Amino acid sequence: MADSDWPLTSDLGPLGALPTVPRLARGFVSVTLSGWGLDALSDVTELLVSELSTNVVRASTEPDGQLRYDDEGRLPLLWIRLLCDRERLLIEVWDTLPAAFGAPVARHPGPEEESGRGLEIIETLAEDWGWETVAGWSGKKVWAMLKVILLSLYPGVPG
Ligand SMILES: Nc1ncnc2c1ncn2[C@@H]1O[C@H](COP(=O)(O)OP(=O)(O)O)[C@@H](O)[C@H]1O
Ligand SMILES: [Mg+2]
Repeated sequence: MADSDWPLTSDLGPLGALPTVPRLARGFVSVTLSGWGLDALSDVTELLVSELSTNVVRASTEPDGQLRYDDEGRLPLLWIRLLCDRERLLIEVWDTLPAAFGAPVARHPGPEEESGRGLEIIETLAEDWGWETVAGWSGKKVWAMLKVILLSLYPGVPG
C-alpha cells in the first residue's frame, strides 16, 4: 500500500538519534492519536514507538556511551511515522544507520536477563511487525501494525 493511500498520516523527523528521542516520540504519538480520535490506542502505540526508537538510539551509541557521529560529524537520523485508515494503525521508524550497526532480531532472553525484550513485546502486542532496507538508501524501516477495528466498532470502550 503506497503511503498516499493512507487517509491519515503524520511524521516526526528528521531527528538526531539522541537519548531524548523516545520521550519526544511518545509525546508525538499521544498528540497525533488524540487528534485522530484514537486516544484508546495511545498507551500501546507509545510503548511500541518507545521500544522502536530506543533501539535506533542504542544502535547509534557505542558500548561506552559515545554517540556514533559520522565522518562529517553528523548523528544517525530517524523519523517516526504514523499511518491510519481507521482499521489499521501502522507505526514506522526509519533510520539512516548503516547495516554494520545491526538489524532488529528478537532475542528471547531468559527470565533472569534484564534486557532484550523490546522486539518480543512488539511481537506480542502488534498484529504484525517487520523491517526492511530501502533500495538506494543507507538505513532501514522497522514497522509494527495494530488493528483499530474493535475500537471503532465499540467507541465507548475506555482507553
Ligand atoms: N533499529 C535497529 N537497528 C539496529 N539493530 C537493532 C535495531 N532494533 C533492534 N536491533 C537489534 O535487535 C536486538 C533486540 O532488540 P530488543 O528486542 O529491543 O532488545 P534490546 O534493545 O533490549 O537489546 C538489539 O539488541 C539490537 O541488536
Ligand atoms: Mg530494545
